[in-house]
Amino acid sequence: MKKLFAVIGDPIAHSMSPVMHNDLFSLYNIDAHYLPFQVKNDDLQAAVNGLRAIGVGGFNVTVPHKSNIIPFLDGIDELAENIGAVNTVVNEGGKLIGYNTDGPGFLKGLMTQIPTIEGKKILVIGAGGAARAIYFTLAKENPRGIDIANRTVDKASDLIQSCPYPVVSNAYSLLEAENHLADYDLIIQTTLIGMSPKTAEQPIELTNLMQQALVCDIIYNPLETQFLQDAKRKGASIQNGIDMFVFQGALAFEKWTGIFPDVIRMRDNILTQLGGNSC
Ligand code: ATR
Repeated sequence: MKKLFAVIGDPIAHSMSPVMHNDLFSLYNIDAHYLPFQVKNDDLQAAVNGLRAIGVGGFNVTVPHKSNIIPFLDGIDELAENIGAVNTVVNEGGKLIGYNTDGPGFLKGLMTQIPTIEGKKILVIGAGGAARAIYFTLAKENPRGIDIANRTVDKASDLIQSCPYPVVSNAYSLLEAENHLADYDLIIQTTLIGMSPKTAEQPIELTNLMQQALVCDIIYNPLETQFLQDAKRKGASIQNGIDMFVFQGALAFEKWTGIFPDVIRMRDNILTQLGGNSC
């Protein structure tokens, strides 16, 4: 019988996950189908129970349910628990277990451009949910330090305080980060600043950027934010948000099927959906 996989969120119509996963199911001859479901906050528990009752193979969770879903699951892995957010659920013998593949997906994407982050000095811009997943994941990889810069510095300090993994970190304002920029090997932009339609905005100026730095932006619409264009002009390497999206999906697919899928194909598929052809 065909297995059901899903993504739940609100809104959900824009999600590119169904096309990406359905293409992989057909590529690997897996008798399964992946569907988007719009679920309102008040219906979340009922939706999770319904998915369990019908024997869903697994599902993704997106905004605004990544944290609220945790009490309705049967278990959660350590990283997802520490991050406080689940983006992937696996049906393990009738029990719905929550994972977070956002942080690990970002790390895997990063590994396509640099061999290791061990010993690297890192700046994360932003202190929201995406920053938290990335910060905790990278903190486990022995970097030289990870600083957090945020408009609200207290939120950066809170994020640092809550990190369960040992790492050297400072909380900075956006202006302080601009002034310290020459210290960093890797800069990761996690806010929505620069996302379509406000594409002219940029979170910090890159005047002091090291030419050898790698600059990442988790936004993929546009494929090159103003921030990445600026970094490229200054001679730095860049990575947009496509890799994080593709690798979080690849890790979810692997958890559901045991197959680590063809990420090049996934990437091409997403670029086609976005109407772009390069990044
Ligand atoms: P997500 O879960 O996508 O990371 P979030 O939790 O709402 O989203 O976090 C948004 C991040 O973008 C925060 O770091 C926020 O800064 P504050 O903590 O000061 O609110 C940052 N952000 C959003 N709009 C911003 C703006 N116009 N200028 C600077 N930072 C902004």
